[in-house]
Amino acid sequence: MKATAAAHANIALVKYWGKRDEALLLPEAGSLSVALDKLLTTTTVELGDFAADSFTLDGHPEDPCRARALLDAAGIRKRARIASGNDFPTAAGLASSSSGFAALAVAACAAAGLRKSADELSALARIGSGSASRSVPGGWAVWEDAFARQVFAPSHWDLRFCIAVCAAGPKQVGSRDGMRATRETSPYHAAFIAQCRRDLPDALKLLAARDLPGLGALAERNALRMHADALAADPPLLYWQPATVACLLALLELRASGVAAWATIDAGPHLVAICASSDAGAVEGRLRSVPGVTEVVVCAPAGAARVLS
Ligand code: PMV
Repeated sequence: MKATAAAHANIALVKYWGKRDEALLLPEAGSLSVALDKLLTTTTVELGDFAADSFTLDGHPEDPCRARALLDAAGIRKRARIASGNDFPTAAGLASSSSGFAALAVAACAAAGLRKSADELSALARIGSGSASRSVPGGWAVWEDAFARQVFAPSHWDLRFCIAVCAAGPKQVGSRDGMRATRETSPYHAAFIAQCRRDLPDALKLLAARDLPGLGALAERNALRMHADALAADPPLLYWQPATVACLLALLELRASGVAAWATIDAGPHLVAICASSDAGAVEGRLRSVPGVTEVVVCAPAGAARVLS
C-alpha cells in the first residue's frame, strides 16, 4: 500500500486561464505545454488506517484537501500519508502544482494497486490542478477536455527553457482563484479565450515545423494577453515584479542583437525564456545579469510521469 512516483512540471505556451466547468475542472480553451527536465517532483503515497490524511511538501505540512479530492475521484477511500519533494536545483519559488498533482495521481493509484491508463491518470491529476493533467503524458502535451495527451515526444525539438527566478513579492492570488476572478470580472476575457482557440492550432503547426521564431512569438503574445486579461480583472491581478519586466526588456534587446529568445510567464513573477539549445548560454547569462533575478534554471523537454517504486 505504498508507492513512489515522479513527474516533471510543465510550462504552457498556449495558456489555460479559465474553466468552462468549475465542478469538473474542464478548461474553456485548449492549452499546449512542454514538460521541463529540471523541475521534478517525487511523491510517496502510503495508504492505511491512519487517523487522518497528511501531506508534506519538502518536509512542511500542507493542507491535504485537494489531494483528498483527487484520491476520492480515484475511488481510494483509505487515509493517505503523502510526502512530496521538489528536486529543483537551488532555485526557490518554483513549486509547481503541475508536477505535484501528476506525481500524486500516479503514486496514489500505484499504492492502491489500481491499473489506470495514462488517460485516466491524466484526468485524475486534473482534479488536483488543470495543468497537472499535462504533466502525466509529459513531452509536448495538449489538454482540451477530460485528459491531456502527448502530441510530440521530448526528443522532437532540442529547445531550452531558461527560467529566470524573479524575486518573490507579496503573496499572490493562486491560479484557481485568479482565473475564476478573471473570468467573472475581466472585460477582455472572452477575447482572450477566443484568441487561445486560434492560437492552439497555429502553435501545433509551428511546433510540427520546428519554427522557433513563429512559436516563440506566438507563446509570448499568448502569455502577455493572459496577463492583460488578468490585469483587467476587478480587483486587478498583477503577477509581475520589476525583475519580470526587466527580463522582458532584456529579451527584446537580445532579439535585436540576433539572439532568438521569447518569453512566457505563468501566474507568478518568474519568466521563462524559450530558445535554441545553442543560444541557451547567451540567454542564461543575460537573464542572470538582470537586477532582481536570483537564479536561472535551464531546462530541456522531459517525458511522462512514472512510478519509481
Ligand atoms: O492548473 P493550474 O491551476 O495550475 O493553472 C495553470 C495556470 C497557468 O499556469 C497560468 C497556465 C497553464 O496553462 O499552465
